[in-house]
This record gives sequence, structure tokens and C-alpha cells, in this order.
Amino acid sequence: MAADQTNSRLAWETLLELDGAGSRVAQLERAVRDAVRTGRAPAGAALPASRRLAEVLGVSRWVVTEVYGQLVAEGVLEARTGSATRVAAQVALPEVGRPARGPEAGGGPQLARRPRFDLAPGVPDLRHVPRDAWLRAAREALAVAAGDDLGGVPWGGHPRARAALAAHLRRARMVAAPDEAVVLTHGATRGMALVAAALAAAGHRHLLVEDPSWPVLREVARRAGLEPVPVPVDDDGVDADALAAAAARTGARAALLTPAHQFPTGSALAPERRQRVVAWARAVDGLVVEDDYDAEFRYDRRPVAALQRLAPQHVLLLGSLSKTLAPAFGTGWAVVPPRWRTPLERAARDVADGPSTVDQLTFARLLDGGAYDRHLRATRVRYRRRRDALVAALGRALPEARVRGLPAGLHLLLDLGAGAPDTAAVVRAAADREVAVADLRRYQARPAPRSGTLVLGYGNLADARVDEAVTRLAEAVSAAGR
Ligand SMILES: Cc1ncc(COP(=O)(O)O)c(C=O)c1O
Repeated sequence: MAADQTNSRLAWETLLELDGAGSRVAQLERAVRDAVRTGRAPAGAALPASRRLAEVLGVSRWVVTEVYGQLVAEGVLEARTGSATRVAAQVALPEVGRPARGPEAGGGPQLARRPRFDLAPGVPDLRHVPRDAWLRAAREALAVAAGDDLGGVPWGGHPRARAALAAHLRRARMVAAPDEAVVLTHGATRGMALVAAALAAAGHRHLLVEDPSWPVLREVARRAGLEPVPVPVDDDGVDADALAAAAARTGARAALLTPAHQFPTGSALAPERRQRVVAWARAVDGLVVEDDYDAEFRYDRRPVAALQRLAPQHVLLLGSLSKTLAPAFGTGWAVVPPRWRTPLERAARDVADGPSTVDQLTFARLLDGGAYDRHLRATRVRYRRRRDALVAALGRALPEARVRGLPAGLHLLLDLGAGAPDTAAVVRAAADREVAVADLRRYQARPAPRSGTLVLGYGNLADARVDEAVTRLAEAVSAAGR
């Protein structure tokens, strides 16, 4: 690239002038954006190594890596393995504080830019996707793959990937299943589409769902011809009595639950309720779909074992890489009870493909070599710290509000407290301040007239932005109340 010759020796020290306003991270980020926007740092220009730039500017290396990470996540900079971080090609940067929207941002269709203060639930840390580890695993997996490995894949996935994943799930989630019970899917949502189609084909007409819950999976069920039947949840997870009553009323024999960490309320299914739910599934000869979406992340204890372990004949577990790596990997899994394997295979003909074999073999390598476990360990520490920082900042800025939900996963609930403005207005006022948050009502089967509760995700919130995000949120709360 021509930029290699022209720009590798740009005098960044003089280009990047810190203006002294706000935190070091904010200053450096503004300076890099400015250099890129004005063209002083053209596309392809290599940025200095973080250590060097930190020395030159007299800031900590953490400040530099935070800024590089943030701007890579936004597509302003590009990070390539074994090479310097560079200015990305064709970036059309908005003025700071005014996020780009739509095609005018850069010619041609664009992905929506994530908000600067990203408290939207459901998104993992897109700055710390283990790109290098994945690339290394891909290289190794392809290097040792036999010709036959690269031919057609049997239903359920490549046997090596199924075995590696089954071993991981037995160890990490205490799943009780042989290798052949594990099926690779294109994420949990498409896994759910398969399950819903198989249930409908077997004559099911209803699916018991938690209320509140993630609406996407309810919609997937509805499209397959299953009527979602909401069942209330409380601090102990789904109400087992209400579940049995709703089942008796509708004839439902299948349920979709998030036992490890209820989405979005953040409770865990209490031990006694776990027993009652599986007893119900056995009694009606039914199926519990266990959505294990963020169960790897528990910060106060080891993750609770999967419900699947209690009744492998009646619980089908769904998981994916969407929270542990990123949604872009399009890789998930189902642990399938024996009698549902053929129905699922039949449904798969019409409904969904699994991930590519190359991705499956890469994932298997990541698992077998220990890199996936290492990534999970590092990620747990990062999220736990960020959650602590967020909870502390909320306590300072919004003393009336109360945090709910286990120290787990990537989100928490915030009850704004008596006299707080309506959350719909708060969400709008927050958006005006570049803060994305969700109203609990968004997840309710029958949205309440008022909720007073926000769902805050901290997966993709930059550590350096926690305090400012909370300050802006507190401003939004007071602006919405005026
Ligand atoms: C509750 C819940 N279940 C499952 C998923 C995973 O979906 P997928 O693997 O299809 O990305 C998500 C992702 O946002 C989720 O929030």
C-alpha cells in the first residue's frame, strides 16, 4: 500500500496534541479522530506502537490501548495481526459527538455505528474479540485438516468439533451428554428455529416462555407455528407453579427458559424450582429448552451447572459464541436429547445450516488448545471489574436507584426508584446524549404502562467511558423528569 511508504514515519508526536480537556483517554481519542478527519493522518498510515506513543505523550500505555481499541471497534483504525495499527481506508468521520447514520457515512451500505456510550444489553466487548487466537487456531486447523475434513460435513457438524465442544460443555457446564448429542448450529437463534420447527412438526402448538424474556426467540417460535405462553418470573427465576398452571390451561408441553441467568431480570432459577421444572417436564413427557446464552459469566461463584444435567432426556440446551466471542462468528450449539435428534435433523433440511466446517475446525482447535478457556478467564475478570465500576458509578450518580440482578452475565437491571420519570422518556433522553439503554418493557410479553426499570448492558461499554456514561444517564434521568 502506498501509504506504507508515505506515512510510516508520520510525526505522530506533533500530530497528536492533547488539548487538556477531560480525561487522558478522551483527549487522545479526540486527537486521533481529528488527525484522521482532517486527513493529516491518511488512510493506511501506521500508528506508533502503544508503548512508544505512551512514552512520547507521557500517558500510560493503558490510555493508548483503550483509545486504539475503541477506534478499531468503530472502524476508524484497523488492527492486523503482526502489523501496526493503521488508519482504516475510507473512513468518513463525523464530528465528535455526532454519530454518523446511514449511507452518507461512507458511500455504500454501512453497518449501523454502535453508540459511543454503549449500555445496550446483549453485546459483548467488541474491543477484545480474540482475533489473534482465532486466526492462529484457523491456521493450525487448516494446516492439519485432511482432504476428507474439507469435503461435505455430516448433519450435526464435524465430529472433531462435536467432540471438542462436548468435552468443554461436560467440564464447564456439567452437561451430561455424549459427543453425538452435540449439534453445531449457526448461533442459538437458528438453533431455536430448528427446535421450534421440530416441536411444531411433532404436534406442539404452544411454548411456555418467561415474561420478561428476549423477544427474538418468542418471535422465532411464533413463526414456526408455536403460540408463546408467558409465565412470570421473580427473583428465583421462572415461577414453577405458574408454569405448571399455564401448561395445564393450554396443554403446552414445552418451555423455553434461561435457568442460569434469567434474561433480562438477572435471577438464577432456585434449586427447588429447578427440580420442579424437570419433574413437570418428565410428568408431561415434554421438553425444556435451556437457553444458556451467558452462563459462562458468573462473578461471585462458579457458574451453576446446566439444568440439562438433571434431565438429559427432557432438556435441550442451546448456547453460542455470541456472548463469549462475538455474534459475527455465527457459531452455536444444541445439546439434544436422543429422541429429538432425528426430528431436529429433519427440521434442519428446511430451516438452517450450521457454521462452515472451517469455522467448526477452528473452534475445535481453540477449545483443544486451551485458548477458549484462557479467553473466558480473562473476559470474566474484565467484565467483573467493569460491572463493579458501573455499580459504583450508579451509586454515586443515581443514589435513588437500585441495582438488581446477580453479579453475572453482561447486564443488570436498574430500578429508578419512586418518583422517577417514565423509562421511555429516559431512553429517549439518553439517546440524545449518545447513551444506548433499554427499557424493561421492551422484553415484556404484555408491556406494562410504566416500568421504572432500565436494562443496562456493560459488555461493550469501554472501561474508560463508564463514569461518563453514568453521568450522561443521570442527566438523561433528570432531563426526562422535567
Ligand atoms: C437471551 C438470549 N438468548 C440467546 C441469544 C443468542 O443468540 P445468537 O446465538 O443467535 O446470537 C441472545 C443474544 O443476544 C440472548 O440475548
